[in-house]
Formats: sequence, C-alpha cells, structure tokens
Amino acid sequence: MENSTFKTKSIAIIMKTIFKTLLILGIFCLCSCTKNRKNVAISSPNDTLLVNFLLTDEGKPSYIILKGVSVVIDSSSLGFELKNAPSLLDNFKIVNVDTKSVDETWNMPWGEQETVRNQYNELKVELQEKDSLERKLNIVFKVYNDGIGFRYEFPEQEHLKEVFITDEHTQFQLTDDHTTWWIPGDWDIYEHLYTTSKVSEIDALSKANHGSLAQTYIPENAVNTPVTMRAEGGLHISIHEAALLDYSGMTLKVDTENISFQSELVGSERNDYKVKRTTPFTTPWRTIQIAEKATELIDSKLIVNLNEPSKIDDISWFTPMKYTGIWWEMHLGKSSWDKAAGKHGATTENAKAFIDFSAKNNIKGVLVEGWNTGWEHWIGFEDREGVFDFITPYDDYDLQEVVRYAKEKGVEIIMHHETSAAIGTYDRQMDKAYKLMQDLGIHSVKSGYVGKIIPKGEYHHGQWMVNHYNNAVFKAIEYEVAVNAHEPIKATGLRRTYPNIISREGLRGQEFNAWAADGGNPPEHLPIVAFTRMLAGPIDYTPGIFNIKLSPYKENNQVNTTIAQQLALYVVIYSPIQMAADLIENYEGNPALQFIKDVGVDWKQTKVLNGEVGDFVTIAREERQTGNWFLGSITDENARNLEVSLDFLLPNTTYTATIYKDAKDAHWDDNPTAIDIETMDVTSETKLTLQLAAGGGTAISFLKK
Ligand code: NOJ
Ligand code: CA
Repeated sequence: MENSTFKTKSIAIIMKTIFKTLLILGIFCLCSCTKNRKNVAISSPNDTLLVNFLLTDEGKPSYIILKGVSVVIDSSSLGFELKNAPSLLDNFKIVNVDTKSVDETWNMPWGEQETVRNQYNELKVELQEKDSLERKLNIVFKVYNDGIGFRYEFPEQEHLKEVFITDEHTQFQLTDDHTTWWIPGDWDIYEHLYTTSKVSEIDALSKANHGSLAQTYIPENAVNTPVTMRAEGGLHISIHEAALLDYSGMTLKVDTENISFQSELVGSERNDYKVKRTTPFTTPWRTIQIAEKATELIDSKLIVNLNEPSKIDDISWFTPMKYTGIWWEMHLGKSSWDKAAGKHGATTENAKAFIDFSAKNNIKGVLVEGWNTGWEHWIGFEDREGVFDFITPYDDYDLQEVVRYAKEKGVEIIMHHETSAAIGTYDRQMDKAYKLMQDLGIHSVKSGYVGKIIPKGEYHHGQWMVNHYNNAVFKAIEYEVAVNAHEPIKATGLRRTYPNIISREGLRGQEFNAWAADGGNPPEHLPIVAFTRMLAGPIDYTPGIFNIKLSPYKENNQVNTTIAQQLALYVVIYSPIQMAADLIENYEGNPALQFIKDVGVDWKQTKVLNGEVGDFVTIAREERQTGNWFLGSITDENARNLEVSLDFLLPNTTYTATIYKDAKDAHWDDNPTAIDIETMDVTSETKLTLQLAAGGGTAISFLKK
C-alpha cells in the first residue's frame, strides 16, 4: 500500500513537470503545434490545480487532474454512445486548441454573499474524427482555484444533426478508496439518508424504497450528486454538475473494483435514448470541487460561476423572506390538506391567524397549503390527471380576502401548487395559475411533484422533466413569480441565470421527522447535508421546530436535534426563504422565538468558521441591510466544544450578542428543549467557546449597538 502511494506520488511529480512544460509550450505555439498534438494542459489561476487533456493512440479523449504533486483524478475517459450512429469515443484528432483567462466579479441579487469572483483559466479542445464521418466534438475545461468544470460542445455540422445520446461516458477515476458521503442514484427522488462508506463499499441497491417515498427508482449501483469524498490525506473532492438545461440529470455509476465513477444519465421508459438534442448544443458542466479543508467546499462558488449571468433584468419583485404557514400541522395530522377529511387546515380563519403571527414577529410570508380543490385525490391514486385545480379554492378559504388581509398587515402570501406529478394538468393550467398570482400580487410559489410522473415512463430527473421544471421557471418570469420546487430536479447553479429560482427541496427535509417510519433524520443528517446537497444551492429545509417531541400529535416521531440546533439552522442551511415551520402555539411565549424574529435571510458575506463532513459545522453570515451578524453551529450525535474567534465582526465596534445555546444537560433525545439564552457585549477581539450538546447547536445574533 505504502509502496504504491509512493509510486503514484513519484509519477505525479514527473507528470507535473511534463505538464508544466506542455502548458508553457501550449501557450506559445497553439496554432503551429496543433496538428499532431495529443496532449494539452491548463492550470488554475493560482497554479495549484492542473488539468491535462490527452488523446490515446486510438484517439480516445481523456483527462487527468492534479493538485500540487498529487493526482486527484487519474486518467479518465470522455465520450458518448449514440443511437443509430457510431459512438463518439475514439478515433479523434485535435484540430484546434484555445485558451483564455477570465477574472471578473458579479453581484448576487440575493445570496450567501454580495459579490462573487469568477476567476478561471479556460481550455477549449476541438476534436474531429480522423476519417469516415469526420464528426466534431469540443471539450471545454474551466479551471478555478477551487475546482474544475468541463463540458462537451456539439458544434453544428453536416454529419451530426439530431443527436440521440444513449450513454455519456464521462469517467472520474479516483486515486484511492476515499471516504464517501452518498445517496443512491435514484432517478425519481433525492429524499434519502446519506451513507458514509468507502467507494468500494457503495451499495446503492440496498437503499431501494425505504418505505416513505411516493416514488423511487434506483436501477443500478450509482450515486446521485453532489457526492463528497475525503481522501486519506484530508483532501476533499465533490462531484456534481452545473447548468442542467435540456439534458438528463447525471448519476454516477460506481465501479467498486477500480474505484471510479462513470456518468449514468437518467433515462425514460418511453425512449431508447436518454437525451435528444439538435446541434449545435452544449452539455451541462461536470464539476469537481477540490478543497484542502471541508469548509472550503462551502466557500466555493464554482457551481454558480459556471452558469450564465442573469437573464432577468429586474428581480426586485422578489425579496428574501422568512415565512410561516399552514403546513406542519398537516404533516403532524393536526389538520388535513383535503377538505373532505373533515379537519381542513387552509381556512380563511387559520390563514389570518398565521398572517397576524407573521406580522407580529418580523416574518414576511405565509404559505398556505391545501387551499385548492383536488386534495381528496392526491397520494396513491393512479389517475391523477385533471384532479388538481390551481385556480379554485375550497369554499372555506376566501383567497381574495386572505390576500387582502395579508396586504393590510404587510405580509405576503406564498402560493402553493401541488402537481401530484400529473404534468399535463399543471402545464395546461400554468399560465392561468401564474396570472391569478400576478393579479393578486403574489410573487412566489411552492410547487410539489409527489408521485410517479404522468406520463408514465418518465422520471423526475430525466430530460423531459428537466425541461418541465425549467419551463415552469421561465414561464414564471413572465408573471414575476419566484419558484421553490419540492420533489425537484437538483440545483445546478441556474439561480445565477434565473434568480427567480429561489430555493428547492431535493433532500430529506424536516417533514420526514413528522412521519418517517425509520425514525426521521438522524443528528448527523444536516452536518452531512451542509457539505453535500448544500453545495448545489439553496435548501427549503423548513427549520424552527420547537415542539421537538411532536406531542400530542406524533408520539412515535420526533425531531432529532435540540431546540438550539433548530435555531442554528437558519444560519447554517442557506436559503433566501426560511420557514418558521412550527405551529403558532409552540412559538407563543417561547423566548427562543426572538432569534427567529431577528435572524437575517439575505447576506452580504458568509464565513465558514469550522466544520468536518458529517460531524459539525459553524457558519457566520452578515446581513446585507443591517450589517448585523448571525452565527449558527450544529453538531451530529456527539457533544463537542468549538472555539470561535469573532474576528469577522467590524473592528472597534461593540455588538450585543444574544447566545441561544444548549443547556448543560441538553441532549437531542433525552432533553432536547433545554436551552439557555445569554446576552453579552462582544467585539471582534472576543473569543467564544461554543458548547454543543449531542445533536445540539448554538445560534447567536450580533446586533450592532
Ligand atoms: C411534499 C412536500 O415536500 C411538502 O412540503 C408538502 O407539504 C407536500 N408535498 C404537499 O404538497
Ligand atoms: Ca418532499
């Protein structure tokens, strides 16, 4: 073992020297040398990462990635198999090579930070088949200091017009059997618990339906992305994709013997191909984030940077917000979505109670689920087409009056569209439904896709549904509507281009704690999510449950964190919309509510202070409008003390810190609601020791004096 590590390292040193030389040659003789070139390299702006593109003697394209002297991704093949056409896997020559460097900044209209630096070196390799059809395929690499993105470009050409991709063969050859945090490569849902294992031990098929899912399909031993790994020496690697447009979602098939991943696109039972496109087109970016420390994965803006700049000129109609809603009560069984079930939640009266509560507590939004007809025919029905109506309220819900009352109180109603995955029905009503929202002055919708997709044979993550999700977002722009989809396609940074994509689910959310038969989300869930799912983009996790044991509604379920951790989640789990998810009666009179009142939702900057995947993480964020800071720290099932320095605060400024921390004897299971709240003056010189209970957390507001 040691010997082979040594060997890999020496090879790496030699290769690095060769690549550097090639890189220099590459810059000086691009045109003249292109003819017989088989090898091109490009490094990151700070020179720490290096990508080498190679063609084998058979003309097979491949790439290698190095960080310093270590190989991070070893020789990995690239290419496609097509329907009714020879594959695009070999017989290529390089016809042209282009490089460029970009260093720019752009502003997030809302986000984890105000400005983002987009700095990379780009290498574009233009390939052509040596003979026969002489088809062309380009591969573009963007090399950042914190990782790599690459994608395929299919140029317009005579012998490749309609392209039916049956398989994309993008390989990620790992150099060791890394520790991996993964969920199965489900074509229908991401709502799985993470498993921590070696790559060689990944066994996605053992995760087939865990009993709480209305749809799931795991065809083979593959994982979904982002998948995050830690190498023996501490290097962190996370593979995902960016700018998923008119293409299938990518899962990664696992080769447990050779310790590698290969792209496996989500398919459809209706077609014998996975992607259909017409040239010219580009694929999504395949992304590899590479970081010395776990915390740097969260710092990285690689995924959004790989997306195009915003196409929405004015998004000022959406502002980040906290919201409450008629929601948790249905998951607890206190009320129902369905009016016929006899305890309808979405009544005018109940909505007004939430509006009053929000208005009183500095919370801008109220979500109302179960307001429209169709719920009596929701889960478990095969014939779901034509059932849900996105215009017609139940007769005990006066939509106009609720919206009027909300406006009077300075509150916004959030619309809800549960499609039950009956896509035709939703598509047919979408214009009317968004128009209704526009007429009412409602600017955001939570959509849902519970159930197997109709038309039968499609999966949530295939090209057909990717297009549906994206078209819903594009159409929403016309009506000034922002979208928060549940049971969505994964986030791939499209929020940069379409900032009306505000948040989404796409993980096991809080709701599982209310009803999952497997005991809900264990304490390690969110300390894993922060370094996996959260790298993709904002999460509508719906934190803030104070009645941890869910009594009297769900005696056999509970939230598996302390109440202090529920507060910390407002800072740790990023989303421009954050729900205060619990019932009004569980908030009233509880001093911990003050943190939810105070906490920001839109950030000028973010500092990840510490963290290890699956163990703990501490994040501090500065609110855009006020310059106030908020800190959230969470731990897994292990209690721990974490030292933090407050050097992120403005110098020479005193802040009132209110610390919401686990009481001495707090514990996620034995004593989850024991919280101590303490106030003190602090400055940037102050150092704190955060004492987190098992499954616990700390939340702190730093308000400028
Ligand atoms: C599943 C969503 O995740 C949940 O938030 C919602 O309440 C139900 N679907 C009903 O639409
Ligand atoms: Ca869900």
